[in-house]
Amino acid sequence: MLNEELLARNLPDVLKFKNGKPVLSQDDWYKRRKEIEKLLTNEIFGNEPSASYLVEGKEVRYHENAFCGKGIFKEIEIRIIGENFYYAYPCYMALPKQNPNPPSFLYLSFASMFYGAEFECMPVEEIIDQGYGLISFYYQEIVPDIFDYFNNGICSSFARNPHNGWGKIAMWAWGASRVMDYLQTAEDIDKKAVAVMGMSRLGKTALWAGAMDERFSAVIAVDSGAGGAALYRGKTGEGIEELVKPERFPYWFCGNFKKYAGKHETLPVDSHFLLSMAAPRPLYICSAKDDDWSDPKSEFLGAYGTSKTYELLGMPGLVTEDAYPSPGACLHDGTIGYHMRYGTHGLNRDDWNNIIQFRNKIGTT
Ligand code: GCU
Repeated sequence: MLNEELLARNLPDVLKFKNGKPVLSQDDWYKRRKEIEKLLTNEIFGNEPSASYLVEGKEVRYHENAFCGKGIFKEIEIRIIGENFYYAYPCYMALPKQNPNPPSFLYLSFASMFYGAEFECMPVEEIIDQGYGLISFYYQEIVPDIFDYFNNGICSSFARNPHNGWGKIAMWAWGASRVMDYLQTAEDIDKKAVAVMGMSRLGKTALWAGAMDERFSAVIAVDSGAGGAALYRGKTGEGIEELVKPERFPYWFCGNFKKYAGKHETLPVDSHFLLSMAAPRPLYICSAKDDDWSDPKSEFLGAYGTSKTYELLGMPGLVTEDAYPSPGACLHDGTIGYHMRYGTHGLNRDDWNNIIQFRNKIGTT
């Protein structure tokens, strides 16, 4: 049944080279991955500028007894020092004392610090109680989430090609990678177990960050919808034409993406190309039953369509019955995990707890 549903979407083949030859081995996959990266970069997210810089982290705050002694809290200023530019932004870390050198989440956040935005859920104490570190930064510290002719934030330091130059999702993802640069020097987390995670527009961003930066050990996207885990072809709710409307979010993407508005069928990729970039690392997709704008069915099918990439690499992909999942379902048996929770668009404690259970099960390295 699910295979028929996928076939009906008429998707481009992720495991076929541009020249039409099949991708048959792991070696083939890594060549194909390069083709896919190029397509995603040039047609959707845009190319980041090439620049050389150093990244440093300066600890500006340290609480030894956060959460009544259970954890350590730190604020680190991430400093990016380039030849002709300097950029700095804060990131926050909560680390469990009971589990030194913990696996962690690099969570792209809608709020600075760990609290603050009413629609945001970061149950930091529950996360550290389960032995994980939480590292987060506020995405708009990198570049503001408005159309501003790319004149503010990090992108103001670079020329930007209007066709294939980076959009803001790529800029936020770049900001996550610069935090990851700093984390390579940190001595209090397990550097090999840092999962990148985000919700909604930041779910799209987490997928792109995980695609471009293989240091992230796992990739987690919550309610990421169009531009994220949801297949473009056959999708209900938001489509490319809504995403790129001038008054909405064209600046999230490169200029070329606009040409696919109302013409999904001409896009040379679909969401399973983006999701396949995570392979063979653990990938987790969450949907919410009433999140019609994101379209849970298309998110699920995107994950399902990614399975064959994992299988080629010798890993189970999404392990599921041959049916759409019911609300409340958690599919945690493969390398691709998925859950569909009750409720509307957002991120809640149930999402976090399911994600943590998946990471516990699959192993965090
Ligand atoms: C809008 C947008 C979505 C996005 C969401 C969000 O609804 O259309 O694509 O995921 O905002 O980030 O909250």
